[in-house]
Amino acid sequence: MSDKKLVKASSAEVEHEYSGGLAVVAPDAVKNPGLEPHRLRMTDKSVKHEKAAARQVSYMFFASVVGSVFAMWAYFAFPITEDLATVRANTLYLGLGLTLGLMGIGIGAVHWAKTLMPDAEVSEDRHPARGSEEVRAKAVEIIKLANSESGFSRRKLIRRSMYGALAFFPLPAVILFGDLGPNPGDTLRHTMWKKGTRLALDPTGVPIKAADITLGSVFHVIPEGLAELKKHKLEEKAKAAVLLIRLNPADLIESEERKTWSYDGIVAYSKICTHVGCPVALYEQLTHNLLCPCHQSTFDVTDACKVVFGPAARPLPQLPITVDAEGYLIAQSDFTEPVGPSFWER
Ligand code: FES
Repeated sequence: MSDKKLVKASSAEVEHEYSGGLAVVAPDAVKNPGLEPHRLRMTDKSVKHEKAAARQVSYMFFASVVGSVFAMWAYFAFPITEDLATVRANTLYLGLGLTLGLMGIGIGAVHWAKTLMPDAEVSEDRHPARGSEEVRAKAVEIIKLANSESGFSRRKLIRRSMYGALAFFPLPAVILFGDLGPNPGDTLRHTMWKKGTRLALDPTGVPIKAADITLGSVFHVIPEGLAELKKHKLEEKAKAAVLLIRLNPADLIESEERKTWSYDGIVAYSKICTHVGCPVALYEQLTHNLLCPCHQSTFDVTDACKVVFGPAARPLPQLPITVDAEGYLIAQSDFTEPVGPSFWER
């Protein structure tokens, strides 16, 4: 007994015996409160309520089917066009259908479990993880019993409506996968920018003169003429969006090749993050850093937009710019590398 000590806890008057670092709580320290007496539910007491609950569960699963079908219908009924309002309508109705599809399955399953499946609480003492063959056979028996008690085999209406809900719910996703095609070919490698295209304010499309850009200011820029596009306006804008920033020319670190890509301290960089394509739009004037709000990739505008922090793997592509005879800022060419995530390396 020399390596054992008896300690009396001052607060709870409970004796603990310590041996080799293990605390053994006296058997009467905590009394097992046992299980609350089981209370029958309305569905346990009345066949009428039981049937009503079964119908409600089925309604939920049917509602899920309706939601999934509605989502598929909405996808075709509200096609996305050049108008931003169509993007909102498509997203809204598709989302409502998918919500109903998933919610119907969730509420139906919970309602089934709470009103119709057995809710008696049981307790079981711990035992070795693997039971004997006899115990395992008993487990199979219990599972079969649970199956029959839950009514999974017996309640055909619930079972079939649930199968229907589960079968229909993934269908909208199959339709959405259609948007992954067709193969974009090399359209991701090129943007609307070409030699002589004026830089215009987003969203008005008004061309900008170099003289209008004050030191430290930032402009969101699109190619002139983008607003007049009849087709693929959103796609072209998503690729061609640019941030225009005026810095002190003395702060710029430019390679020989890029010395002619800026104009009097004005630089233009793709706004599409090279990580996974969020719009980079937060500019810290003091540090000259551009931040992507999605995963905090940070780019140094003074040093070719190199990555100084975050998961982006390469700098933001630079748009070579200059001015035309009237002083308007123009592109010297398209970007010299694809914008956005580095899909071509994968
Ligand atoms: S998309 Fe910009 S950091 Fe991830």
